[in-house]
Amino acid sequence: MNQITSKIAGTGSALPKTILTNKELETLVDTSDAWIQERTGIKERRIAKNQENTSDLAIAAAQKALKNANLSANDIDFIIVATFTPDSIMPNTACLVQAALHADHAVCFDLNAACSGFLFALQTAHAYICSGLARHILIIGSENISKTLNWNDRKTCILFGDGAGAVVLSISDSSKHALLDFETGSDGTRSNVLTLSGFQKSFLQMDGQEVFKFAVRKVPEIILTLTQRNHLCPEEIDWYFLHQANARILTSVAKRLSLPLDKFPSNLSSYGNTSAASIPILLDEYHNSHKLLPGQKIILSGFGGGLTWGSCLISW
Ligand code: COA
Repeated sequence: MNQITSKIAGTGSALPKTILTNKELETLVDTSDAWIQERTGIKERRIAKNQENTSDLAIAAAQKALKNANLSANDIDFIIVATFTPDSIMPNTACLVQAALHADHAVCFDLNAACSGFLFALQTAHAYICSGLARHILIIGSENISKTLNWNDRKTCILFGDGAGAVVLSISDSSKHALLDFETGSDGTRSNVLTLSGFQKSFLQMDGQEVFKFAVRKVPEIILTLTQRNHLCPEEIDWYFLHQANARILTSVAKRLSLPLDKFPSNLSSYGNTSAASIPILLDEYHNSHKLLPGQKIILSGFGGGLTWGSCLISW
């Protein structure tokens, strides 16, 4: 009998309909479409309507992921929502998703690790499945960041967008189709670099250059740790799904690893930085367009406030 492990069985995503372009931002703050595109790679982002909550996006993404996995809500043992912008402190957003889906058997909780939230939730769910506590887990990265932004602060408001991405993680007995390994970490001594002291009561604040330096140093480091531990070289990885924070971070990581940029999918130009949602949204786009082939090696990598970071090696 093979060892029990976990695999991604389905993906889904949901984005608000409203588009906010760089040109429109020019009317709000002292910025330009050219500056934003050159410094970040972002052209536009999606913005949730006033009454559109993190849970609404999460529910829509989760429904698609369940359908894609050919499972019903009744099959789900846990729902984990990775978010730093929950609808409310209590109840948690995962419980709101459960109620909407009628996932009556699920245990539901939120997990906050900012832009690393999806990776941390994936590792948590993987551990539940490997320990025999669960067979199917719904993991959703969902954010409503626009409501936390100071729309007079050009250093932050141009970067972020709203959205949700979901995966169903299911039990697997084959390492050919499985999550293979994780490398995760945190450094709370650098918590001041990216902050939001109280959701709906304060604004997101960021030392952009510090975050940038942290990302371009830490991401290649954890990717190399993960590949070396699994006797792979970076070239043998087919795809690197990095958190979508800034196109220059993707370019810099690719350069430091001496890899072609076309191994690094990106949708930054359309959605900006959607924090915990960015990796599952991108994964869903690639899965849906049949770009991911069975057996391909994939690395997911998240990094962000906390500071936090995490990578996962997958055999698709
Ligand atoms: N439009 C026009 N000018 C802007 C601007 C904007 N939106 N934002 C900043 N500037 C100006 C600055 O005021 C500064 O002007 P000065 O030289 O007259 O003081 C100049 O552009 C350069 O600012 P700087 O902060 O050095 O720019 P940068 O190249 O570091 O780019 C970020 C800023 C925020 C785009 C970049 O640091 C970044 O992406 N960091 C990572 C952020 C991130 O990923 N956060 C989430 C992590 S999960």
